[in-house]
Amino acid sequence: MAGMSACGAAGRSVRVAVVGPMTGEQAKQGKDMADGARLAVAEWNAKGGVLGRPVELLMGDDAQDPKQANSLANKMWTRGVVLVVGHYNSSCTIPASEIYNLRHMVMITPASTNPKVTDRGYKTLFRICGRDDQQGMVGARYVVRAMPNAKVAVLHDKTTYGQGLADEFLKNYEQMSSRKVVYYGAIVKEDQDYSAVLTSLKALDPDLLYFGGLYPQAGLLVRQMRQLGLKATLMAGDGTYDPEFIRIAGANNAEGSLLTFMPDQEKIPGAQAVISNYRKRFGEVGPYSLYSYEAMNIGLAALSKAGALDGLKAAAVIHASSFDTVFGPIRFDAKGDVLESPYVVWRVESGRLVQIPRQ
Ligand code: ALA
Repeated sequence: MAGMSACGAAGRSVRVAVVGPMTGEQAKQGKDMADGARLAVAEWNAKGGVLGRPVELLMGDDAQDPKQANSLANKMWTRGVVLVVGHYNSSCTIPASEIYNLRHMVMITPASTNPKVTDRGYKTLFRICGRDDQQGMVGARYVVRAMPNAKVAVLHDKTTYGQGLADEFLKNYEQMSSRKVVYYGAIVKEDQDYSAVLTSLKALDPDLLYFGGLYPQAGLLVRQMRQLGLKATLMAGDGTYDPEFIRIAGANNAEGSLLTFMPDQEKIPGAQAVISNYRKRFGEVGPYSLYSYEAMNIGLAALSKAGALDGLKAAAVIHASSFDTVFGPIRFDAKGDVLESPYVVWRVESGRLVQIPRQ
């Protein structure tokens, strides 16, 4: 059965899906991803669809829960979906991709950055964003160069993503600086009160706290740090990169925080038309909106070029092709990663995220 859609051709339409956290504290990311995919599908349908058929977009909510992600993957298979854009959390993408791999469904994640997503070498799996070994290294390099004498502490949220990223930062930081961090620990993501860990941290008086985790927790963390009088600069990765982080933290508390993410999308000349169309339909472009838009475009272009609703054939097309995207031409390596992932450092300045010049 593997590779043959459970519902055959799923009627006349080409069924595709976007999956992520559509409800709960990360719902903004789910909406951003869904809107990016919606825009791509609308454009393909306006041009006549794919393989002469209309494209039908299904939405799936994994509620940032790995078990939910698995049942969603099975559900999409039984509904005849050939292409999935998602998930957001690496902790969802990794288990669900076992099912996409088994069923030969094409999966392109716009946002899951843990190395394990692609390191298993599954043929139909792709990632259009960067990897945590790269962003952990870029974060560490910045700290070593810009804050050479800083006392550094590391904290994570025990998720696949958060712990993985914190460990990449730690490894790179200790190698590059020949210094040790003063603290390494974790929070429980579900807790709202981090005062126990923050009180231990205060005694160590770090200059920088690297946090491997996501914006709802990062926002609370910085708020509580300032309440306790902890002055350390917070640094975190793509999962914290969202204006919601600043809103949850409070602009004054978040000021000066450092985040690794991709370069400013507003400054890419080739992205302006898409950004403007997106804004008209959905409002502000989120961190992963355009990644989701291009993940869907690449998947649909591959199905079209493969000439069949066949995940393995479409995946072979993706491996062999270069795609013109708003980010410029994109090619994938043998594992399904993009050849370039140019992480840069951003800082919260006057309540806004500002890309700082490369160090
Ligand atoms: N990059 C984050 C993750 O992989 C969102 O979970």
